[in-house]
Amino acid sequence: MTTTKAHGPTAKMDIRGVSKTFDTRAGAVHALDRCDLAIREGEFVVVVGPSGCGKSTLMMIAAGLEAPSTGQILVDGKPAGPAGPQRTVVFQRFALFPSETVAQNIAFGLRVAGVDRAERARRVTEQLEFMRLSQFRDAYPHELSGGMQQRVAIARALVVRPEILLMDEPFGALDAQTRTVLQEEVARLSREMNYTVMFITHSVEEAVYLGDRVVVMSSRPGRIKKEIAIPRDAGWRRLDIEEASSEPGFIELKREIWALIRTEIVRQ
Ligand SMILES: Nc1ncnc2c1ncn2[C@@H]1O[C@H](COP(=O)(O)OP(=O)(O)O)[C@@H](O)[C@H]1O
Ligand SMILES: [Mg+2]
Repeated sequence: MTTTKAHGPTAKMDIRGVSKTFDTRAGAVHALDRCDLAIREGEFVVVVGPSGCGKSTLMMIAAGLEAPSTGQILVDGKPAGPAGPQRTVVFQRFALFPSETVAQNIAFGLRVAGVDRAERARRVTEQLEFMRLSQFRDAYPHELSGGMQQRVAIARALVVRPEILLMDEPFGALDAQTRTVLQEEVARLSREMNYTVMFITHSVEEAVYLGDRVVVMSSRPGRIKKEIAIPRDAGWRRLDIEEASSEPGFIELKREIWALIRTEIVRQ
């Protein structure tokens, strides 16, 4: 299996030498150790690794929501600015505003960015259609299923047209059927819109299905252990995840990645 590197001028986002130590009352927690990861424009990179290895920490740092202890985040070769519309995040828990409607929730980032009312309305309507949420525009989050709420969270992250989309186990809290539907939806989104995505999951199947490249992290302190390219032109790309997961090429990749993670779990 080939390993790809995207460092240098071709990288959209470059995570360089990022380490993180948390000072806690119980002592220092060394969460990340000199992580290097570069993501090309339009590339869908999936990060997997044992629980507690620092995946979420890496994403929070990439998003600008947490400061690294050492190292830096570059976007287009320049130090990344603070969190904001350039890099938006979808978390496992939908984190919608409970007292706002679907449309108001989606408009949030546009309001913060100072987009005027008419343009906001236009963009929200377009995003609702794209995510097949139009009929729920005036609903409140508690009236929606978990899957619908997560669609809203994705719409809210996309409506600002981020340069980079960061997703931290976005389907982790969903039931299996809803998860399958949203996995296929995200695969469609990334094909049609060519987003640059950093996506975290603990599902190896999801990683192979969605990723152009799967990055395996070591157990804590998290390091980048191995990068595995997933062929874009694999035949199973056109199948739904159920069918894809029984294709020999898919199974082979899954096995290879799972073996790497297993080694790290055993090592803990
Ligand atoms: N804010 C924090 N303060 C102290 N320790 C933290 C904090 N966030 C994460 N950690 C610790 O850092 C390690 C990595 O956590 P995390 O990034 O959430 O892992 P993962 O997402 O891979 O499960 C864990 O040991 C966790 O307890
Ligand atoms: Mg996590």
